Amino acid sequence: MTGYDVLAEVYEWLISDAKLPPAEFAASFDDVLKLLPSNAHVLDCSCGTGQLAVGLACRGMQVVATDASEAMVRRTAELAEEFEASVRAVRANWEELPDHFQDNTFDVVFCVGNSLHHAAGATGRSAALESMSRVLRPGGRLVLTSRTWELVRARGSRLEISDRLVRRNGRDAVVVYAQVDATGLVLVRSELLSCWPYRYEELEIELHRVGLQTELSTFDLEAENYMVIASKV
Ligand SMILES: C[S@@+](CC[C@H](N)C(=O)[O-])C[C@H]1O[C@@H](n2cnc3c(N)ncnc32)[C@H](O)[C@@H]1O
Repeated sequence: MTGYDVLAEVYEWLISDAKLPPAEFAASFDDVLKLLPSNAHVLDCSCGTGQLAVGLACRGMQVVATDASEAMVRRTAELAEEFEASVRAVRANWEELPDHFQDNTFDVVFCVGNSLHHAAGATGRSAALESMSRVLRPGGRLVLTSRTWELVRARGSRLEISDRLVRRNGRDAVVVYAQVDATGLVLVRSELLSCWPYRYEELEIELHRVGLQTELSTFDLEAENYMVIASKV
């Protein structure tokens, strides 16, 4: 089970509005696609939830979608079914591609949406790229998109919290990325805590109701915290 097997269930909250409709995701690669025959052999080798693969298949291309995560492959197959698109979805990590496909098979291989950094270091990256290259036909193209990691690392460790709720399927989410620039083990702990916030005026009434009278209060709407000292009457 990979981290993406868990994420697959909520992955649409991580995809931008623009990438969610398959046709639009595919259209973002129009500059490359216009160089290809309409029935080109295409491999999306980190297909995620399948929007690109399905978008390409809906244009008439012969599409294979692979991913290391079983759950992602399943979601891709489900999306293809929903759009009645013909996509062959296969679970395979990059190094396994030559086990599934002959050398020189595809006109284009896509590795997009910031995926390649999941390859383990320079050795893993080289092995992954070598596999992608092997299954490309001579003259075929690899299309790779990536974050500018130089910039990400220069900003250092931090939380990235989306500035708006992301609504998918009628449910809202706040997307938070923890960017941890560290070597060695990183432990993640997460727990859902329930909170029932109250206004100061409610608190005052409630204190009063139980026989406590405010002696001192530092409450100030402009301040982050306050203290109340209340005495029993
Ligand atoms: C950031 S997501 C991008 C998904 C999709 N391309 C998109 O743009 O939405 C990265 C994807 O790479 C896949 N992945 C990670 N490591 C992989 C590997 N070694 N081989 C193949 N896929 C891998 C993950 O399972 C995940 O679906």
